[in-house]
Amino acid sequence: MEMVNITINGQKVSAPPGSTIIQAAKQAGIDIPTLCDHPALIPIGACRICVVEVQGQRTLITACTFPITEGMVVQTETPQVVSARKFILDMLFSERNHYCPSCEASGDCELQNLGYRYGLDHFIYPTYTKAFPIDASHEHLVIEHNRCVLCGRCERACSDLTANHTLGLRNRGNSSMIHCDANLLWGDSSCISCGNCVQVCPTGAIFSRRSAYMGREVQTESTKSTCNRCSIGCGTEIVTRDGNALRIQGDWDAEVSGGRLCRHGRFDPLYDERKRVTTPLLRRGGRLGPASWDEALTAVADRIGATGAQEVGVLTSSNCTNEGLYLLGKLFSQELKAANVGLLNKVAPKLSGEQGKLGQVATSDLIVVAGADPVKDQPVASFLIKRAVDKGARLVLVDGKDNGLAQFAAMSFGMAEANKAVEVAERAGQPIVLYGAGVTEEAAAALKKLQGKAVFVPIEPGVNTRAAAAFGFGNGFKPSAVKVLYALLGEQDSGGEDVFKNIDKGAFIAVQASFISPLTQQADVVLPMAIWSERTGSLTNTEGRVQKVNKAVEPAGEAKPDWEILSLLAAKLGKRLGASLDEISLNASQQLK
Ligand code: SF4
Ligand code: SF4
Ligand code: SF4
Ligand code: FES
Repeated sequence: MEMVNITINGQKVSAPPGSTIIQAAKQAGIDIPTLCDHPALIPIGACRICVVEVQGQRTLITACTFPITEGMVVQTETPQVVSARKFILDMLFSERNHYCPSCEASGDCELQNLGYRYGLDHFIYPTYTKAFPIDASHEHLVIEHNRCVLCGRCERACSDLTANHTLGLRNRGNSSMIHCDANLLWGDSSCISCGNCVQVCPTGAIFSRRSAYMGREVQTESTKSTCNRCSIGCGTEIVTRDGNALRIQGDWDAEVSGGRLCRHGRFDPLYDERKRVTTPLLRRGGRLGPASWDEALTAVADRIGATGAQEVGVLTSSNCTNEGLYLLGKLFSQELKAANVGLLNKVAPKLSGEQGKLGQVATSDLIVVAGADPVKDQPVASFLIKRAVDKGARLVLVDGKDNGLAQFAAMSFGMAEANKAVEVAERAGQPIVLYGAGVTEEAAAALKKLQGKAVFVPIEPGVNTRAAAAFGFGNGFKPSAVKVLYALLGEQDSGGEDVFKNIDKGAFIAVQASFISPLTQQADVVLPMAIWSERTGSLTNTEGRVQKVNKAVEPAGEAKPDWEILSLLAAKLGKRLGASLDEISLNASQQLK
């Protein structure tokens, strides 16, 4: 690519055409301060903290909005620039209540950091005494308007990242305020609790109820991982302090999600109050009680060893790592020759050999969503779709049920009318088909006519469904023939589910689970499993990307990661399935290719 050559502070810098001064400077390691700008958001040039001198320009220029041109000469810290920045900071500090010691963001605040950087040690102007309200009506978030600098980042996160358009700016001048919908309380608004706004707020104006005042950046650790709540696999950073998970943030570097998270990824795991299984449990004399790992694994291995392969059944949740699913398939299907294996959720049919990427939604002019409801089940995929619709793409639904995307669709068809959606897509320039497990055989046959014309991306139900299917777990499980059932429930919410319906009353049931549920109460052995924050391994997302999950906290009690439990069980059965996690990961990823 031909590059644009400029000079910043005497340093030669080359950057791609269309880059702003900020982007070119960042690439060269030159720091220009920002406040309203954020790499994930469309720049608006509101705060003017990033002003720089550009040779030939009559006034100072906002580096976050100004595009570079060949031969441009930029100075970022001249006396005039520094003086302008100090003036802006003095105004911002005087405008609302920025008394830092009592602020939730103190220590991590971008405004406070700029104050230190430019030597603001006292208020130049009288501090403004107008009191703004605090809105604490939201289930997870609080907005403290007195700390707001009106940078508009939250508003843009709500539109550019989530495409929800809940937040906006109301009133003018010194009465300007962020508001929700037509000035509703946040808790009564159209907010869907994705929390993408809290992550971009540079001050203590928006904060999370759960982690407020619980740890500044220097007191916490951050571990990159992958969300395990649906098949999109958004990149996360788990923020911990003293072995406790405080908050979950979106990973700005994550290719699939670009920093976005939904409520299920950001908040739900932190509010999970289900009771953990912390020790192995073994039924003795009709009562389920604590046992050692050795006793529990021996009981399972003995029953499996004494049962014919045709009477051993395996059921798994898709909420397990690639490594866990690989070992489950290898141990039961390949080594023990058990053929009756199944998955607790459905699998989307294969409509094309070509695998598209979710990011291609942004460059498509027509989006067909068939047999899936991403608003409910894969929210970040729905953000990408709604954003593309904002930008002019047309959405066509093939569902036949209430679908969360219905209000954004140009056309909606029932499953039996999939051929009509195909006719529309055939006339589009760059159509994309996102399809789930709800696609009927007839609709699948119709949609396949778009092969060669459209990009196809499955949106699998469950979590690690792609890997589960690759390792042989599908929808063919037959409960009636089972004398020994090994159920890998993991973190799946099994409350009220009748997964063991039709399993023979006398069958031996071994459960690998993280939480006490009606299902663990029916088991003969329960093996305690580590949860999302306590395990290392990988997940395969709905596009087939293998992404790392990393341990951020120690497992509760005696819980162990899914793959380790299966390794120990395999050893009890005299099978060696991989000596280390690295070896297991390598074998699993080779089979996933
Ligand atoms: S939580 Fe999400 S939907 Fe709600 S206001 Fe913030 S960005 Fe918008
Ligand atoms: S609430 Fe935060 S992100 Fe939103 S405008 Fe105010 S300071 Fe900026
Ligand atoms: S869309 Fe799915 S993977 Fe992404 S944050 Fe939400 S639940 Fe997690
Ligand atoms: S960061 Fe450039 S104007 Fe605010």
